[in-house]
Amino acid sequence: MSDDIAWIGPLSVTFSSTIRGRIPCDMNIDDIKDVFRPYNRLIDIEICGEARSVPENNSLLRCFQFLAVESISYGDFCWNGECLNCQVWLASGEREKAVIACRTDVEPGMNILRMSEYIDLESDAPENT
Ligand code: FES
Repeated sequence: MSDDIAWIGPLSVTFSSTIRGRIPCDMNIDDIKDVFRPYNRLIDIEICGEARSVPENNSLLRCFQFLAVESISYGDFCWNGECLNCQVWLASGEREKAVIACRTDVEPGMNILRMSEYIDLESDAPENT
């Protein structure tokens, strides 16, 4: 494998040598559409006070990947419940409930109050690329 190619399952993405070690800059949702469980609609949840629409029938981490393709795809995540880097805190009545996003399915109206520092939903935003 060339040093300029990163493999993510069946996908490959070319890195620019100037951004090696950081997220690639040419990935979009069509590149990863096969990683999602089938869904018919987007559902509304709240993430740190912001309304977002994400695919039903998927884990929260997949939903984060839907919102921030590059930073989550290339983030430091095991995707299997071992690293805890995907931990989020949900509103649960008057309390918070900690869950791991890779093992928790999204539900309509979920309210995510806080997220692990490893979850970056901002760096994929156009003003940061
Ligand atoms: S990604 Fe490692 S525990 Fe969820």
